[in-house]
Amino acid sequence: MGVIEQRDWLVIGASRDGIGAAIARAAAAQGDRVVITGAESEPLSMPEGVTRYHQLDVCDTSAIALLARQFSQLDVLVNCAAISRRDLEDDLEVFRQVIDVNLIGNFDVVRKFEKALMVAQGNVINIASMYSFFGSPKVPAYGASKAAIHQLTKSLALKYAPQGIRVNAIAPGFVVTEQTERGRADTVHYEAVIARTPFARWGKPDDIAGPALFLASQQAGFITGQTLVVDGGYSIG
Ligand SMILES: NC(=O)c1ccc[n+]([C@@H]2O[C@H](COP(=O)([O-])OP(=O)(O)OC[C@H]3O[C@@H](n4cnc5c(N)ncnc54)[C@H](O)[C@@H]3O)[C@@H](O)[C@H]2O)c1
Repeated sequence: MGVIEQRDWLVIGASRDGIGAAIARAAAAQGDRVVITGAESEPLSMPEGVTRYHQLDVCDTSAIALLARQFSQLDVLVNCAAISRRDLEDDLEVFRQVIDVNLIGNFDVVRKFEKALMVAQGNVINIASMYSFFGSPKVPAYGASKAAIHQLTKSLALKYAPQGIRVNAIAPGFVVTEQTERGRADTVHYEAVIARTPFARWGKPDDIAGPALFLASQQAGFITGQTLVVDGGYSIG
């Protein structure tokens, strides 16, 4: 067996013990160096094995540029930052804010880190959603932003393929995190997700970590522009 090189990960939006934190923990557990960010001044807790946290608003383009200057190279960039405003997204300002964070923020982060990714011939993992494919009257902006992430992943994959950078996405099913707290409080919705999911449960953040490690690995070296659905079968019925 050859020596496996330690790689550098940056997980944007890993401050709240959700999907980003689970991915960060899994990457650190395999021996990689992991830096995380979040909107808050402090993370809820530091994922095990991670020592560096940066507060970063993905709508603050100069703050992203400032952080990017600290990375001479980057192997894996994971874009987990997002918001949803269940039942409030009919308001134009709220709609705009959700698109700003979830779509434009994601795009801006990739652009600002492209040099570091090129140096390492790294790869990007964006986070899509079931709402990339299905409509929801409760989160129209969130759905539109996640459908756009699915599409943007393909465009960025084409753009960066000549530089050897892969760009993929994961579309999780319904996962127990702070972001879904309001939705889970609606028992009709909570039970409907379970009823429709062949594995008959909501996902855990750790369910998303393994697929992220795979997409980031050399084993996925010929995969780009794809959105990998990780949903316990929710979308197949
Ligand atoms: N939980 C689910 O069921 C589910 C399903 C599909 C997709 N997702 C997606 O997974 C990703 C992670 O979500 P989660 O459920 O773990 O939620 P979470 O609330 O735990 O994580 C969201 C992260 O985004 C960060 N964030 C919010 N606004 C930001 C801003 N303006 N600038 C920078 N960072 C900001 C937060 O600080 C936090 O770290 C998101 O993209 C979400 O849309 C979640």
